[in-house]
Amino acid sequence: MTKNNQTNNSADQLRAMHLRITETSPWIKRFEHLVPKAARVLDVAAGGGRHGRRFLELGASVTFIDRDISGLSDLLNSEKARVIEADLETTTTPFDSGGHLEGENFDAIIVVNYLHRPLLGVLIESLSTGGFFLYETFARGNEKFARPRNPKHLLESGELLTTVAGKLQVIAYEHGQLNVADIPGVKQRLCAVKDQYYSTGGELSTYPFA
Ligand SMILES: C[S@@+](CC[C@H](N)C(=O)[O-])C[C@H]1O[C@@H](n2cnc3c(N)ncnc32)[C@H](O)[C@@H]1O
Repeated sequence: MTKNNQTNNSADQLRAMHLRITETSPWIKRFEHLVPKAARVLDVAAGGGRHGRRFLELGASVTFIDRDISGLSDLLNSEKARVIEADLETTTTPFDSGGHLEGENFDAIIVVNYLHRPLLGVLIESLSTGGFFLYETFARGNEKFARPRNPKHLLESGELLTTVAGKLQVIAYEHGQLNVADIPGVKQRLCAVKDQYYSTGGELSTYPFA
């Protein structure tokens, strides 16, 4: 077996392991009440769509995007779901001219267990005023325990905070070892909002603690 085949197989195995989990991540569950019921939600690298599905249940319209939509086929005819098959790691992003999401914005963007750094900026720009950025993925320190170990897929200390600084209001942030989680490991998690203050220079709002 070639090295490339081995890498692909191990990525497929990791994906399959992740997709066996169908419950909403506790971090997303913790903040779901902040997202308006009729929100437009984007589930990035959705996998089986466990997070978007939760927001569908709550009444939102949800766009699911992933390069492999085999776990989303049951949603293809659903009125409030839109399923997009797209590679998120090409030279252009889906938000660019001619892309699937050109000019769109969302009231909540959810990313769990996925990192492609060049996308972070455009995701933040694509939040509507008042929109929530809910992010959770593996971080430095995880390499001591389990995959992913590649620094490309691990957030640096404080990276999500630095990424949203001056653009979003941070409601909650953590970086640490999670033993009780959907997938144990070292993770970084963020809940932040594109407040009026950052979008229009208006009021900085407050949000209830979860
Ligand atoms: C670990 S799974 C996480 C799935 C989902 N977010 C969850 O928490 O259940 C990572 C997902 O990223 C998707 N993915 C990886 N590389 C991608 C790419 N270049 N473009 C689009 N999706 C990608 C995979 O297909 C997979 O569904």
